[in-house]
Amino acid sequence: MKFLSLLLLACAPLLAVSQDVSPVKDAGPYVPSPQSVVADMLRYADVSAKDYLIDLGSGDGRIVLTAAKVFGARGFGVEIKDELVKKSNEAAHKEGLADRVKFIKQDLFKTDMSQATVITMYLLPDTVNLLKDKFLAELRPGTRIVSHDYPLTGWIPEKYVQMDLEDKVQISGVTTTLIYLYVVPAKVQGRWSATLPASKQPAMLNLKQQLTRVSGSARLDGKEVPLEEVKLRGDRLTFRLSGRKGEYSGQVRGKTIEGVVDGKQPWSATLGG
Ligand SMILES: C[S@@+](CC[C@H](N)C(=O)[O-])C[C@H]1O[C@@H](n2cnc3c(N)ncnc32)[C@H](O)[C@@H]1O
Repeated sequence: MKFLSLLLLACAPLLAVSQDVSPVKDAGPYVPSPQSVVADMLRYADVSAKDYLIDLGSGDGRIVLTAAKVFGARGFGVEIKDELVKKSNEAAHKEGLADRVKFIKQDLFKTDMSQATVITMYLLPDTVNLLKDKFLAELRPGTRIVSHDYPLTGWIPEKYVQMDLEDKVQISGVTTTLIYLYVVPAKVQGRWSATLPASKQPAMLNLKQQLTRVSGSARLDGKEVPLEEVKLRGDRLTFRLSGRKGEYSGQVRGKTIEGVVDGKQPWSATLGG
């Protein structure tokens, strides 16, 4: 009996540690984003009461708590450290936010993100990049992703802000602070059968896509016409037909695009055909 109590005593620190989650990958130590950076991240992402925000590696919960308290959003944070999850949930209760936000002890690599309209993160650069495929697979077009300090390489940011902050010297040794805002693009790659005002016959749009970069051409009355000024922001696609008047804008909804030319004449396209 005495041996058992001694064993339990000896294992106490191990038992305490084992309450944390062992992640697929440790995405970085607990270093809180300065509160001014939190405010900027949420402002750049245009967070509002309509949003559902998920903070990946939520630390003391400050991003999710601020999103709820100041911007009226709902959401959750995931964190592997038991103590931090407890502290965050306590803060949510204390601040009367527990009906809108919660904190879950979970590995961010195993978290279902599909509910999010905004993702925030302050994680190591390799982790941020390991998440790219998961983002594309799970997040809806138009979902905003805000990253403190580290970019998603290969993705064109919607916004990119660099500033100097004294608070960051303790964290990274330099004052430089970066905030990247990305918008998850719709999937538009492929051949689309289209009805365009510029064509008497049914037309064809042939779109090539690399994340947010889209290029392509339209087949109009037997002629191949390159697309110009093609932009894809979330589910909004805009382009011009080379040598023709009018700006085409449309909303991508899965396998259909519906829109207007110069805000007036309707056009549409269906994937395939
Ligand atoms: C740099 S802190 C950021 C905290 C908070 N998001 C902020 O900006 O103030 C990163 C947090 O991620 C947590 N973390 C590391 N790997 C994780 C993983 N695989 N799943 C969930 N959380 C993780 C760490 O414990 C740490 O609290």
